Amino acid sequence: MTAAPVFDKGLANTIAAETQCSFIDGGKGVLEYVGYDIDSLARNASFEETVFLLWNRRLPNRAELAELQREIRAEYDLPEAVWESIRAVPRTAHPMHMLRTLVSSLSLHDPEADDGTVEANRRKSIRMLAKTPTIVANFDRHRKGKPFVRPDASLGLAGNFLLMLNGARPTAAVERALDVCLVLHADHGLNASTFAARVTISTLSDMYSAITTAIGTLKGPLHGGANEEVMHMLHEIGSIDRVDDYIAGRLARKDRIMGFGHRVYKAYDPRAGYLKTFARQIAADTGNQRLYEMSTRIEEVMRDAVAAKGIYPNVDFYSATTYHSIGIDLDLFTCMFAISRISGWTAHCMEQLETNRLIRPMAEYTGPHGLEWVAIGDRR
Ligand code: CMC
Repeated sequence: MTAAPVFDKGLANTIAAETQCSFIDGGKGVLEYVGYDIDSLARNASFEETVFLLWNRRLPNRAELAELQREIRAEYDLPEAVWESIRAVPRTAHPMHMLRTLVSSLSLHDPEADDGTVEANRRKSIRMLAKTPTIVANFDRHRKGKPFVRPDASLGLAGNFLLMLNGARPTAAVERALDVCLVLHADHGLNASTFAARVTISTLSDMYSAITTAIGTLKGPLHGGANEEVMHMLHEIGSIDRVDDYIAGRLARKDRIMGFGHRVYKAYDPRAGYLKTFARQIAADTGNQRLYEMSTRIEEVMRDAVAAKGIYPNVDFYSATTYHSIGIDLDLFTCMFAISRISGWTAHCMEQLETNRLIRPMAEYTGPHGLEWVAIGDRR
């Protein structure tokens, strides 16, 4: 017997998939990837180690990590046609439109695009993970009129990205800061973009289609686009003495403060807690204390105003200051989220396929019934 359907707007109380990728306790502010606490991963794991964990649901030994690193580095470069596609993107295009389009275009140059075997899906996951940083960094160079910098397979994913973006090897501290951001953004339960990716793969479409869907979903300001909005807000406020009035004004108008609140966390987002400490250090090292101080003042004002409702900073709040301090342009912030989250999206797609069932919820029809057909010439 099928249970009576329940209407659940926004699916906030619906469990739509089983997963072993990540666990969230929103009341206690806990996040684990495959059983490992996010704080211990951020302190100890590299991004590549995190990718292995999500894809294999266990930590790699030394040889396994080295092999995955080798496989990823071997896929950094792009097909020549995709380098050409970057050149063809208008310089004014938003990087997320560019990214969605060019990740989709990778399928055109992959003979395995429609091979749905476990092995081919893993290889395509490696390709998308490895090539996305090359696309983002070199699009940024293209729009600034700078020559392309080809990837360097002697570097890890974070170091290689920063080398291509800036044309120079990053300091160890900046490379580690980016690596930590990538670890913190890698997976997060059945968030909107991961759900979108699982819906697409559940139709037995292909991995490129699933990740393209996910990138489009991540772009929205209620999801991954919030980190960009946080930076706009910090620029708009401009100085610490304007914080109190600005926040009070927005709250009075019932406007949302970007980087605060979460569908699942009603306690402090553990990723934000870790990033706050990190943002403080990297902001001090790079002369961006003003941004950090404004951010902590916003947090204080918000604590007094809305913490009672369970609204605290989320991962996007301090990642904005961190990315800015690393030297990443504001409109690339959501692309940084995507570069990391490809690990989680692909992990979820491969997991979905292990026990696949088409994801297809119902809608509550609220329109009229039984209307009489009216010929076109007789309509008002
Ligand atoms: N600023 C001010 N008030 C807020 C905020 C905020 N950022 N977020 C929620 N509220 C209030 C909201 O006005 C409502 O108040 P009331 O009950 O008095 O009407 C209450 O909190 C519940 O809001 P909701 O919209 O029902 O909550 P939701 O679970 O649908 O929304 C959210 C979650 C993330 C969309 C929302 O908190 C928001 O819009 N935040 C700002 C955007 C943001 O930072 N998004 C990034 C999320 S974390 C990264 C990611 O996973 O993508």
